[in-house]
Amino acid sequence: MKTIVVAVLGACGWMGRVHSNAYSGLARQFPGLPAEVRIKWLVDADLTAVTKAAKALQVENISDSWEAAIADPEVDLIDICLPDKFHYQAAKAALLAGKHVYCEKPFTDTNEEADELVRLAAEKGVITRVGHSFPINPAHQLARSLIQGGEIGEITMFRATQHVDTHGSPDAPFIWRLDGEQARTGIVGDTGSHVFSFIDYLVGEVDELTAHCPVIFETRPYVAGAVYGQVATGAATETRTVTNPDLGMVICRTKSGAVGTIDFSRIATGKRFMQRYEIYGTKGSITYDYDEITRLNVFKFSDPAGQQGFRAIDVGPEQPDYASFLPLPNFGLGYNEIKTLEVSKVIESIALNRPAWPTFADAKRIVALVEASMASHASRQWERVHN
Ligand SMILES: NC(=O)c1ccc[n+]([C@@H]2O[C@H](COP(=O)([O-])OP(=O)(O)OC[C@H]3O[C@@H](n4cnc5c(N)ncnc54)[C@H](O)[C@@H]3O)[C@@H](O)[C@H]2O)c1
Repeated sequence: MKTIVVAVLGACGWMGRVHSNAYSGLARQFPGLPAEVRIKWLVDADLTAVTKAAKALQVENISDSWEAAIADPEVDLIDICLPDKFHYQAAKAALLAGKHVYCEKPFTDTNEEADELVRLAAEKGVITRVGHSFPINPAHQLARSLIQGGEIGEITMFRATQHVDTHGSPDAPFIWRLDGEQARTGIVGDTGSHVFSFIDYLVGEVDELTAHCPVIFETRPYVAGAVYGQVATGAATETRTVTNPDLGMVICRTKSGAVGTIDFSRIATGKRFMQRYEIYGTKGSITYDYDEITRLNVFKFSDPAGQQGFRAIDVGPEQPDYASFLPLPNFGLGYNEIKTLEVSKVIESIALNRPAWPTFADAKRIVALVEASMASHASRQWERVHN
């Protein structure tokens, strides 16, 4: 069986740990996977953390910069879990070296960068994937097959939302995510891109949109070593300016004529993590709430009169990707399991030379939605989406 050799960049952050743990458990979780995986490199700017991680995962090579890992001829796959501002340059270097590339979202900061990487990936004939993992939850796979099977008819309207409250308090400290230099599009690329990925996966291509994406808290205390999502310990040493959006409110229209609203933020106080959608069609509708992570609610006009209403469907082992984890419905998959599923899909795509959504070409449409939202906020006009 082929062994796919991997280098994980940004290996000691949240995503780096999630991805590397997933590789380590793949053979056990997915015995039918057509390839084995070996992590050969862990790369992270934090050399103490990466030394410890390499020991725990028995990885031979570490570095605090990615060049040597990308140049290693034995490496097949470069996995990018770096902060946003490095995605384009690391992905470009990896593609130029002829590697398969799996990159966390947001794919790139601009349409121009996305176009270039899509072109380069096609020239090199490699497998690419972006970490828009939420839609591959088997619940959404079912929603997609219901929609594509015509069960809810033509989609006319949708609403989709994702909020956290990491920065609901003005006292929440400054971190790289609030710095336009390191994360150019702020919450639009961070959380907005997740919501846009649902629209791309379930509804279709958006043609034009209007958006308001303001900064609400213009400055934040800076506490050295502050950790994302945690109350900072220690005193603020200075105040830093927030240079990317805290929230986004978007109205959009798809090529097929469906109209939707999309909203997202990092300031929804009390909403620790909220993700929902409602998709309305001419024959029925589907709604979803992350609080019931593997449940879809489906309404159909074709149900008998007097008995119509939303029916809860708990996805179960009838969905093969659910069955990889659990033998019974409604036990609930978690975030890390969905991410592990995504990692398995990357390996499967490489082993079978079969690209799967979201490739770089798919993620380019999501970047286009982020860029159009930023442009619309600046112009205060409707903007066409660069598909
Ligand atoms: N798909 C998802 O659900 C999801 C969730 C969280 C984060 N993300 C994305 O993943 C990426 C990483 O986010 P995170 O939360 O893991 O961040 P993080 O800050 O926890 O981790 C980033 C890691 O990169 C390392 N690093 C920074 N600069 C480096 C450099 N130049 N060279 C080598 N290592 C460097 C840091 O030391 C850190 O360990 C972001 O782009 C983010 O948007 C995706």
